[in-house]
Amino acid sequence: MNAAQAALEVDRVTLALGGREILNDTSFTVHNGEFIGVLGPNGAGKTTLMRSLLGLVPVKSGTIRVNGEAVVRGNPSIGYMPQIRTGLANRRVLGRDFVAMAADGHHWGLPHRNARIRADVERVLELVGAHQLASRPLSELSGGERQRLLLAQCLLGNPRLLLLDEPLISLDPRHQTGVVELVRRVQRELNITVLFSAHELNPLLNSLDRVLYLGSGRAALGTVDEVISKPVLSRLYGSPIDVMRVNGRIFVMSGDVEIDKLDHAHEEGEEHEHEHEHDHGHGHEHGHEHGHEHGHGKKGKHTHNV
Ligand SMILES: Nc1ncnc2c1ncn2[C@@H]1O[C@H](COP(=O)(O)OP(=O)(O)O)[C@@H](O)[C@H]1O
Ligand SMILES: [Mg+2]
Repeated sequence: MNAAQAALEVDRVTLALGGREILNDTSFTVHNGEFIGVLGPNGAGKTTLMRSLLGLVPVKSGTIRVNGEAVVRGNPSIGYMPQIRTGLANRRVLGRDFVAMAADGHHWGLPHRNARIRADVERVLELVGAHQLASRPLSELSGGERQRLLLAQCLLGNPRLLLLDEPLISLDPRHQTGVVELVRRVQRELNITVLFSAHELNPLLNSLDRVLYLGSGRAALGTVDEVISKPVLSRLYGSPIDVMRVNGRIFVMSGDVEIDKLDHAHEEGEEHEHEHEHDHGHGHEHGHEHGHEHGHGKKGKHTHNV
């Protein structure tokens, strides 16, 4: 794969669900090896955007290229952690078996494991530092530890782009930082690209390279200073927004209310029912060849809307 090639090119894309436009004529380019924090109010389209990269939501117009290629379902160059991960806390399955299940696409029952899958499972457990957890049942692990195993699943098959949809939901702040730092370390070690969605910016601040902020059908991609600003966020929220910086933390305020707290207050501590089909198996196919080089000459336009 060409190292200079963009990881993600979104070119004048409109996404619609049920007749409602989620993104409207939006363009941005994510470079290889970037850690992107994907932010925006509830319903802004973070999940929908990720699903469109997986080919699960068709674009209404415009083009998306992932690692230089047109969107395709089951793209082995993408690893995906869906937003909703229910019922894991009750599972007696052992950590190693849980990771292996994603490798061969079996959610239930004993996975058939050939040597290659076994080696890949050990590789990803090693990467996320989960060997200690591998022989324990999920039900005995903390939320942060289960998250480690979910990340390991995403890394099976060596994806070049990770889509991590709200990995911090239902984790306490200490575990949140741990998960972000773990993803950052793995991302750098493998030199892969990460889209990490969250409803709070602060846990990501020390780890992200740039922010992709969604709102009102638009997107702003840039550094924290470029994007987390009064004019940009006011436009994305469609109402006056203030940005306060206190002790290295950033607070996005609407009037007196901190906006991400307001927006997601009901979500704290909950595990949600999964409203989307499961897409495990993405990036988990083995024995495929990576990187058909088509040599598209097209470089992403930087229409950052910032
Ligand atoms: N299958 C669907 N059909 C119609 N609308 C949907 C569907 N899934 C999500 N939506 C709507 O699309 C919008 C974007 O949702 P989503 O991508 O989940 O936002 P986010 O992840 O940023 O919270 C929301 O208004 C949501 O209600
Ligand atoms: Mg979402």
